[in-house]
This record gives sequence, C-alpha cells and structure tokens, in this order.
Amino acid sequence: MSYRKRRLKIGIVGCGAIGGGIARYVLKELKKDCQLTGLYDIEYEKVERLRRELGLGNVGKASLESLVQSCDLMIEAVNARSTRNIIRQALLKRKHVLAMSVGNLLKARDLYRLERDKRCRLLIPSGAVAGIDAVKAAGLARIRQIKLTTRKPLSGFTGNPYLKEKGIDLARIKGETVLFEGGVASSVKFFPQNINVAATLALASGAGGRMTVRIMTSPEYRTNSHEVEVTGDSGRIVTRTENVVCPENPKTSYLAVLSAVQTLRQFCLGTCVGT
Ligand SMILES: NC(=O)c1ccc[n+]([C@@H]2O[C@H](COP(=O)([O-])OP(=O)(O)OC[C@H]3O[C@@H](n4cnc5c(N)ncnc54)[C@H](O)[C@@H]3O)[C@@H](O)[C@H]2O)c1
Repeated sequence: MSYRKRRLKIGIVGCGAIGGGIARYVLKELKKDCQLTGLYDIEYEKVERLRRELGLGNVGKASLESLVQSCDLMIEAVNARSTRNIIRQALLKRKHVLAMSVGNLLKARDLYRLERDKRCRLLIPSGAVAGIDAVKAAGLARIRQIKLTTRKPLSGFTGNPYLKEKGIDLARIKGETVLFEGGVASSVKFFPQNINVAATLALASGAGGRMTVRIMTSPEYRTNSHEVEVTGDSGRIVTRTENVVCPENPKTSYLAVLSAVQTLRQFCLGTCVGT
C-alpha cells in the first residue's frame, strides 16, 4: 500500500506583489507538499489575472469567508489597515496564518492569544531584513538599543499621506533626505507600506521601546536597504540588507517574498535552520 501525505491547502488573500510571488512559487516548487486552493482580493480582476497566469481552475473566491473555508493555511498579503481582522477570521476557524503586514501586529495580543486557544500557528516571516534569528536570541538577554535606518528610492514613497501632510514633495528632492526619525509605532503609522521591518525587529527583540527608526530617500537610491544595529548584554549586532525591489511594487522588496516562501517551506517540511 502506498502512503501519500495529504497536501497542505493554501489560501492567499491579497493577489499583489507578495501574494502573486508566493502563488507562483507554491505551484513551481512546493507542488508535492502544498496545493493552492483559494485566491481572494478586494479587486477581483487581480484574482482572475493571477488565476489565468497560473493556469488554475476554480480557485478564485468571492469572499474572505470562502477563502478561509478553502484552506488549511491562509497567507495574508494585503495592503490595508484591516489585516488584523482578516487574520482573526482565519484563526477563529482554526486555520494557520502566515502574515506579511507585520506593522499591524505590533499590538495584537488578542491574536496571539487566539492562536494559542485555537491551537494553530500565526507565522511571521523575517521579511526584508537580515539577522532576525540573532535579534530573537539577543532579546532573551537585555537589549539596550536598536537603531534601524531604512533607505528606499523615491518611487517607494509615492502617494504617502504623511509626506503630503508634511508638505514634502518627492519630485523636489535632489539629494539624500531624512523623511522620518522616531519610534517604531509612529514609523509604522506614517509609513505602513514601507516599514514592516521595524515592526518585525520590535516583535523579534521584545525591545521596540528602545528602538529608533530613520527613513531616508534619494534620487540616487536604487535598492531598498536596511541597516540595523543592536546593542545589549549579548554584544553588538550590525546588519545591512540591500534588497532588489519587486517589479510589481517598488515599496516591497523581493527578499520579503522569498522569506515568506521559506517560512512556508519550513512549515511544510519541518526544516528549521536559523529560526
Ligand atoms: N514583512 C515584510 O517585510 C514586508 C515587506 C514588504 C511588504 N510587506 C507588506 O505585505 C503586504 C502586501 O504587500 P504587497 O507588496 O504584496 O502589496 P500590493 O499592493 O502589491 O498587494 C496588496 C493586495 O492586497 C489587496 N487588498 C487590499 N485590501 C484588501 C482587502 N481588504 N481584502 C483583500 N485584498 C485586499 C490589493 O488589492 C492588492 O492586490 C503589505 O501590507 C506590505 O506592507 C511586508
């Protein structure tokens, strides 16, 4: 008798740069262990476009509810403030969740409690930054300070309401410019599409209150880069990540897509080096 492992059913909410990237990878590389059973986006034509590109049958879902119903693990890749509620819907139905909008999870104790109560997993990938494994370990001892400097090309900030309110016109920026300096919570509030990395560092370290965030831009920048310096009882950690920008969305780094895929791979295959 041949034994065939049941494949993990994957549902993706948000069919943009990250959701699309993960869907392509699941079909190409994780076919043996995963099955894409649902795609949902508030803009339904994005679902259809991706579904056709991937040559899939009836996986387009008309509501979040039917998406959740179709899967064992839901991938959240949505550019909206409402992602906590989206995640809650999945956890309530005992579905595992892989969440990309980490900025919305800074104060989400209710979700972590729900995760435990429902005995499912809320997975948060390291995203677009290196060194999260070491930061997590360092957080077990005392961390004195974390400094994050994020640099992104001008196109990464198009349409940002905070810059508009501050009267900062991206078209007039001629050289290296600091757009923001402050704490994690305000960085995430004012730059929700740009600074998930700050939230990931805060959650990994447990030292968000001792973190300063600087966001910079320049017409010369071509990559999304993150410099991190952590000092504490375990020593000093310095990392610099220079990311290729996603062609579909210049606010997002390609490494973020890959880190989601790696997290999913580890979840399916159980290989956990460095996590
Ligand atoms: N963790 C990280 O390091 C990291 C890195 C980059 C981006 N992100 C975050 O991941 C998320 C997705 O990024 P992206 O580059 O794929 O964005 P994107 O703009 O390319 O795609 C987001 C998709 O979500 C859809 N959407 C918006 N509101 C929705 C809703 N209520 N229900 C269903 N679909 C909805 C949009 O129509 C769009 O197709 C964003 O929140 C982004 O900030 C995280």
